[in-house]
Amino acid sequence: MPATFVIFGASGDLTSRKLIPALYKLHRKGRLKDGLRVVGFSRSPYSHEKWRDELAETTKQFAGDDFDATAWGEFAMNVFYHAGDVGHPDDFDSLAKFLNEIEEGAESPRVYYLSMAPQFYEAAAQQLGRSGLAKENGAPRRMVIEKPFGTDLASAQRLNEVIHKVFREHQVYRIDHYLGKETVQNLLVLRFANTIFEPVWNRNYIDHVQITVAEEVEIGKRAGYYDKAGVVRDMVQNHMLQLLMVTAMEPPVRYEADSIRNEKVKVLHAVRRFTPEQVHTDTFRGQYRGYTNSDEVPNTSRTATFAAMKLWVDNWRWQGVPFYLRSGKAMSCRTTQIVIQFREPPQKLFGSGALNLCESNRLVIQIQPAEGIQLHFQTKVPDAGMKLRQTDLSIDYQQEFHRAMPEAYERLLLDAVEGDASLFARADEVEAAWKVCDPVIAEWQAHDKPSLYMYDPAGWGPEECEEWMAKQDRSWFDTCPVLHSK
Ligand SMILES: NC(=O)c1ccc[n+]([C@@H]2O[C@H](COP(=O)([O-])OP(=O)(O)OC[C@H]3O[C@@H](n4cnc5c(N)ncnc54)[C@H](OP(=O)(O)O)[C@@H]3O)[C@@H](O)[C@H]2O)c1
Repeated sequence: MPATFVIFGASGDLTSRKLIPALYKLHRKGRLKDGLRVVGFSRSPYSHEKWRDELAETTKQFAGDDFDATAWGEFAMNVFYHAGDVGHPDDFDSLAKFLNEIEEGAESPRVYYLSMAPQFYEAAAQQLGRSGLAKENGAPRRMVIEKPFGTDLASAQRLNEVIHKVFREHQVYRIDHYLGKETVQNLLVLRFANTIFEPVWNRNYIDHVQITVAEEVEIGKRAGYYDKAGVVRDMVQNHMLQLLMVTAMEPPVRYEADSIRNEKVKVLHAVRRFTPEQVHTDTFRGQYRGYTNSDEVPNTSRTATFAAMKLWVDNWRWQGVPFYLRSGKAMSCRTTQIVIQFREPPQKLFGSGALNLCESNRLVIQIQPAEGIQLHFQTKVPDAGMKLRQTDLSIDYQQEFHRAMPEAYERLLLDAVEGDASLFARADEVEAAWKVCDPVIAEWQAHDKPSLYMYDPAGWGPEECEEWMAKQDRSWFDTCPVLHSK
């Protein structure tokens, strides 16, 4: 029986740029085995035809070469629009009626996707409950919620409470599109489907871990939102802590939603809470020069566009291994990468000196836009005595598999339709992530420590951050990935 996918925020940017292209591609690839109806809900007064026409244009633009008029025609036959306002209870009653009509009385599984500003999440959940749309009468009812999920622990808890009055936790899918990326899922495969990595994936062999999410772009159109949020809410609390969890978690008992999420959340529980003093010494914040020139940003804004922090995961595997998280806007290039920096060999057998500065092994997991893995290790330079050089074994996903990588949303939307919550955040996970970030945000707001360092766009953030690492006898892996054309 075809599922029904209801999008709240149908006329918005995310719907046209990501959701509809992803659903269309799933249709074209034949992944929606039972078919799918899509119903858009927002205030704009579209007819079914007008919305379909508009989506045809945007999907052509965003699906690129994957757009095929015949396949789109088949998909669009099952695309509908129902105008409504989340603040108007009657509009939910009429939506319920409309859904029953197009589903012809059958109890189809339904996904309600909240693709609208966070201030509407509570009202939407309450109205879905009041109108009976959330009730599972033998057919699944799931709700997908976009980020941001709260702005701190208290607001996330409140939102969870409101949602749990209507939906049970198994019905709630909190999306973090990083988890939909093939390269993030491959990290689980790398760790748990191979025997050679897991034995060295611990404090005995790893010196430290670096997780970098660098964006080349400045704040652009999102200035109003960004100035209130800042880099910790925008990147660290969600995407970066997700990457930390997947890097540091123990093997799950089974590959299924709760086993995976149990192990992930344990990592966050083990992250040492920042004291105010540690926020001063172990976090770093910056703002790129020119940030306050944006119309929507006050001249006096002290919002951080760059953050670096050292986290400790206090458990047997990771005791004493720092996890460095770093994210910034207006950086040298766009890259998301995880660097596993191994310890130095115990003995420097091949001499020392400039030629033989033996760099230790490094595993670089590139998440985006380059997608691949490199293992860096020492090699003897031929015909040069015992001179060594760092070389690497490398896998580039696209070259290896000769195909374009799917968008993260394709995988996640399919999982939501099929009821697999493995790659979605659970309530306790989101709250635990806020518990890690709240002390940093609070301390940054309350004090001038650590200082807010200015940095020039197109670099790697404030120089002082490089010095901070150097004082710890470490250095950032500041390398832009080599991209191959698609
Ligand atoms: N855009 C992205 O790339 C992106 C990425 C990650 C996360 N997100 C998250 O996704 C969500 C949507 O983002 P967006 O960029 O698509 O926002 P957007 O372009 O501003 O769209 C908001 C949507 O909400 C609808 N809406 C506003 N008030 C409404 C009301 N009272 N009743 C019913 N519909 C209402 C708007 O349509 P009408 O005006 O027609 O009602 C519009 O369709 C946000 O939570 C955002 O943080 C977006």
